[in-house]
Amino acid sequence: MRLLAFDTTGDRLSLALDDGKKVRRRLERVGRDQDEMFPGAADRLLKSAGLELSDIDAFVAASGPGRFTGIRVGLTYATVLAKTLGKKAAGVSWLEACAWKAPASARLVVAVVPGWKGESFFQVFRRGEDGPRPIQPPGWAAPERLAQAVRESAGGEEALVLEDKTLSAVDLLAPARARLASGRLEELAPLYIKPKEDIDALLAIQALWPSLPQWTRKHFEEELAAPRSQLIVFDEGGRLWAYGSARWTAPEAEVFAVAVHPGRLRRGLGRKVLARLHALAALAGCAVCGLEVSAANHAAIALYSSAGYRVVGRRPKYYNDGSDALLMSRRLP
Ligand SMILES: CC(C)(COP(=O)(O)OP(=O)(O)OC[C@H]1O[C@@H](n2cnc3c(N)ncnc32)[C@H](O)[C@@H]1OP(=O)(O)O)[C@@H](O)C(=O)NCCC(=O)NCCS
Repeated sequence: MRLLAFDTTGDRLSLALDDGKKVRRRLERVGRDQDEMFPGAADRLLKSAGLELSDIDAFVAASGPGRFTGIRVGLTYATVLAKTLGKKAAGVSWLEACAWKAPASARLVVAVVPGWKGESFFQVFRRGEDGPRPIQPPGWAAPERLAQAVRESAGGEEALVLEDKTLSAVDLLAPARARLASGRLEELAPLYIKPKEDIDALLAIQALWPSLPQWTRKHFEEELAAPRSQLIVFDEGGRLWAYGSARWTAPEAEVFAVAVHPGRLRRGLGRKVLARLHALAALAGCAVCGLEVSAANHAAIALYSSAGYRVVGRRPKYYNDGSDALLMSRRLP
């Protein structure tokens, strides 16, 4: 079985190709645009083995923890490639990948991987017939609390604490193989360890734009969980500055919202968020993307027009302030 594993969860893109005989890896230092780099990097790696995407049996994405958008991008790539090519997809967390590096003699393992701002994430695994299985949800701790938190998580049992700061796509292969062999291919779920904080940040940006439809926390949570929806965010310096959301059922996608923090306007973030939504929708097989915008929202109309949207319809007096809704649409590449 040939596997292509990839990590888009951090500041670099790493890929590993296991063709059944040899494992090849590729590391691209790309800053934050791994999603745009992925197709080219995957192609180069496959070519080095004389293979094409259609030769791969399963696509494996790192499911987190990591950057909010990167996680979703990786899982979307795995899901869409598998669906389009009729292959399998698996999502493997860094905690699981770490636990799989423990020697088989360790029955109880606490996997520890780096988090943000010096924090670490950890999770307890018990080794069964088919490898380590998590026995608790993951947790996180600041450095001064880590040792105690890890001890408590093992509940007094003797456990091997394994900390790994060097994980890359190649470490996703072993757990993915075991999953594929046992048929345990749960729906690919992102591992957000701190979704509350992320959603707080999105709610805060939204609240700065009272004219936007104000989504509730529950609505954001549902968007995060929905397989056919994408919530893209742009973060920098440990803060979220922009987000956009779209849903799709091929061949059509719809953008619901793009919002940028008022302190970061006109720096290209709106355009960037929109471009990512388009790229993912195109990958999911969508040919057209539509949206609805108030005729009074000149900034948004200018953004959408500059991104190739044209007005295709109008709903008179659609919004509460009496403004018309413009229906805009563009073709996807
Ligand atoms: C609309 C919005 C998302 C634009 O975000 P942004 O990051 O400032 O936009 P960008 O910097 O990516 O701009 C891309 C292009 O859009 C156009 N544009 C964006 N804002 C504009 C404005 N206020 N006036 C004129 N043109 C504008 C320009 O063509 C711009 O290109 P340029 O800067 O090279 O001239 C932002 O103003 C916002 O969050 N508004 C409130 C939320 C909202 O109304 N969202 C849309 C409805 S869901």
